Amino acid sequence: MAFIDWSDEYSVSVDIFDKEHQSLIAIINELHQGLISGFGIKEMTYILDRLLEYTSKHFYHEEKEMHAYSYPEFEDHKKAHEQLVADVKKYKDRLESGEQAFSLELLAFLKKWLVNHILGTDRKYSEFFAGKNI
Ligand SMILES: [Fe+2]
Ligand SMILES: [Fe+2]
Repeated sequence: MAFIDWSDEYSVSVDIFDKEHQSLIAIINELHQGLISGFGIKEMTYILDRLLEYTSKHFYHEEKEMHAYSYPEFEDHKKAHEQLVADVKKYKDRLESGEQAFSLELLAFLKKWLVNHILGTDRKYSEFFAGKNI
């Protein structure tokens, strides 16, 4: 069993976004695997950077479609994305300064960070995007 297992309840009913969410889950699972395997700070930071990079790409994709279809909650959603990125960057700074080590606590934070966004904020666009060509 992986650290986060994809579940149908995570589906936002937009195939491409489900796929991107699965990729994000896969990167968090890689971090978990790295922690268990005793990866060093350099390897872990490399994976965390990939998570940040992919997250930005995914968020931009969602925002592009929301904007294109005039999604009414676009501004709030965009703000939520900005906050999420800022939260992980804060963690990254603490890791790099040696103030904090990679831990299960960090992994639990990332799990909550992603799953809460998918189940809460992202889920809200499911109905809106239904039948649209994304
Ligand atoms: Fe989102
Ligand atoms: Fe998303």
